[in-house]
Amino acid sequence: MKSGSSYQHSHLKRVLFDETCIRERVAEMGTKITDEYRGDSLTIIAVMQGSAVFMADLIREIQLPLQLESISVASYHGGTSSSGTVTFHQSRMPEVEGRDVMILDDILDSGRTMSAVKQKLAQECAPRSVKTAVLLSKEIERTVDVEADYVGFNVGDEFVVGYGLDYRGLYRNLPVIGVLKEEYI
Ligand code: IMP
Ligand code: MG
Repeated sequence: MKSGSSYQHSHLKRVLFDETCIRERVAEMGTKITDEYRGDSLTIIAVMQGSAVFMADLIREIQLPLQLESISVASYHGGTSSSGTVTFHQSRMPEVEGRDVMILDDILDSGRTMSAVKQKLAQECAPRSVKTAVLLSKEIERTVDVEADYVGFNVGDEFVVGYGLDYRGLYRNLPVIGVLKEEYI
């Protein structure tokens, strides 16, 4: 029987970023964040579920006093394009008053999610500062004008899965990032 990972791997038509490439880039991002916040502590807010894998790897590359929070947000609702609405699944935002906060997400696409999270944090949580980091940034014209402070890789306007990114809840545990074959969509 095939392992879960090689089974899912066979659903990809193209691998964009393999494990080594992701590991090296995430390490670089961690070093940059460490350098830029030196002397301060940092609170990471991971946007679940998509940023789970990225978060787990990135925080271990950041050499700072660090606290971890998460929020659950959805904008895709199962398909391969943004639904246009951003839904917050928890009733309370993390308590981060006066802290330096970094929002982490897997991918910046239309910009709606990142923009909604930033706005809600600023309105309700009074952080000292807010920056953003994404593993992937789609090179498209954003629906909402927002960019991330730290970006792992730029990608084209394609639907990608793996390393936390899902299609209908699947493929998050694939260690690489790639494009699904049409027959699986
Ligand atoms: P945005 O709100 O349109 O910027 O979309 C961001 C969210 O949509 C991310 O947090 C992802 O969960 C999801 N998303 C956007 N593009 C993709 C993709 O290519 N694959 C999987 N999920 C995606
Ligand atoms: Mg998401």
